[in-house]
Amino acid sequence: MEFFYPPGATPLDPDEAAGLIPIHITTQSDLNAWEQMNIVQGDAWAAKQTKRELLEEGFIRDLHNKMFGNTWRWAGTFRNSNKNLGVDWTQVSVKLRELLDNTRYQIDRAVYASDEIAVRFHHQLVWVHAFPNGNGRHARLMSDLLAMRLGRPRLSWGSDSSNIHSAGQIRVQYIAGLRAADQGHIGELLAFARS
Ligand SMILES: Nc1ncnc2c1ncn2[C@@H]1O[C@H](COP(=O)(O)OP(=O)(O)OP(=O)(O)O)[C@@H](O)[C@H]1O
Ligand SMILES: [Mg+2]
Repeated sequence: MEFFYPPGATPLDPDEAAGLIPIHITTQSDLNAWEQMNIVQGDAWAAKQTKRELLEEGFIRDLHNKMFGNTWRWAGTFRNSNKNLGVDWTQVSVKLRELLDNTRYQIDRAVYASDEIAVRFHHQLVWVHAFPNGNGRHARLMSDLLAMRLGRPRLSWGSDSSNIHSAGQIRVQYIAGLRAADQGHIGELLAFARS
């Protein structure tokens, strides 16, 4: 099948595209619906992991697998090619470990408010871009779980009822917030995550 990518999405290479599990899927909208169903399952699984440490490579991979494991054969496994985004693929484990260590430190020392820790973590996790695809959705759920673990409500990522923007405008705000965070300014993404 042919894949269509929204702005800011990571295209799959042919090997990755061949990892599609449901053989009946022939259109992008079928795939989107299938992925969404799988993500709902991952979300339900995540809600039950109340005792598990979140900031560990094992949890990061398990969550990706639960979100995408019925869709992609490579779910829960790190990239082995480079993308237009993300660290060099050979650096994924190392950079992820640094991120997890830094985030634990920020929590222990209360370096930032809880929401800011969760949103900084989100930005860095998509920057690492650990997986061939699904990094945005996985990193948003990871940050939701982290925020909740830190005693905060789940993040809303532009879907709050007072935010009247269309899905396309929300996407533009989100990517703009990530770009600002790339430049060291976290405020825009932080506000967006609570809008
Ligand atoms: N300029 C950018 N700077 C930092 N991160 C970016 C930028 N552009 C995109 N991203 C991140 O990369 C993600 C896209 O990667 P990928 O396709 O692996 O994830 P996804 O879950 O399939 O995406 P989506 O968010 O569309 O569901 C975006 O959701 C966003 O989190
Ligand atoms: Mg994608």
